[in-house]
Amino acid sequence: MKKHTVTSIQKMRDDNETITMLTAYDYPTAKKVNDAGIDMILVGDSCAMVVHGHPNTLTATMNMMVLHCGSVARACDRTMVVADMPFGSFQYGIEETMRNAARFVTEAKVDAVKFEATVNHIEKTKAIVEMGIAVVGHVGLHPQAVGALGGLKVQGKSVETARKVVTEALALQDAGVFAIIFEAVPAKLSEYVTKKLRVPTISIGGGPGCSGQLLVTPDVLGMYDNFTPSFAKQYVNVGEIMTNTFKQYREEVLQGVFPGEKHSYGMSDDVMEEIEKEFGKA
Ligand code: KIV
Repeated sequence: MKKHTVTSIQKMRDDNETITMLTAYDYPTAKKVNDAGIDMILVGDSCAMVVHGHPNTLTATMNMMVLHCGSVARACDRTMVVADMPFGSFQYGIEETMRNAARFVTEAKVDAVKFEATVNHIEKTKAIVEMGIAVVGHVGLHPQAVGALGGLKVQGKSVETARKVVTEALALQDAGVFAIIFEAVPAKLSEYVTKKLRVPTISIGGGPGCSGQLLVTPDVLGMYDNFTPSFAKQYVNVGEIMTNTFKQYREEVLQGVFPGEKHSYGMSDDVMEEIEKEFGKA
């Protein structure tokens, strides 16, 4: 299987094949996601929360994101890797936004960038697309606006907020994005907009009517329980497996079971005798 491109992702949407996407932030996890046949990875700024332990995504920086993106990109020979542009990397001038987008491509070697663009960022979206960088849009809940929104809340339940979702999605498509993430949007609204758009839509709390589905991997694995959105589904409790494994290791070390002979290096008695002759007995 060849590596996904904007063309193969668009073909999946046109052929009614559902697109699968997960987040990843490090090489070993990305490799497993790639090997599992997942189509796209988002190196989300959620890494500020789920990897670095911050209370929200606002503390993710360009350097942090480029480092995580590089390790994910090196693991993926099939899955398309999308870098999330952190807060402060696209809010100032067009030129700074373009430079930051370019860093993800040149330093981390990702396949695309995503940012929480509103209608105020359409010119920046166009500028990045014109540079030749593939861009993913993001509508509905913008976690980077958590302060202004007063919390991480569903978006699009009122006529005013639903209109914002529709107009932003259409404007992003016109600006040249190749896919749009719908976060915490009522299922009916996501399905409606999906039918109106040519480009694929990816849901994270946007319901089953989108062209694809995305989840935050630590939520899927049960690795992060500080905050779990209601749309997340935990498939396995890796967190519990890890805690139990660490407890078992601790017990074995305390009881002298580990390390045994199998996990220790041997040495000839002659060498040891020489050492004892030179330095005395222990
Ligand atoms: O950072 C992230 O994981 C995201 C998704 C929630 C869309 O932006």
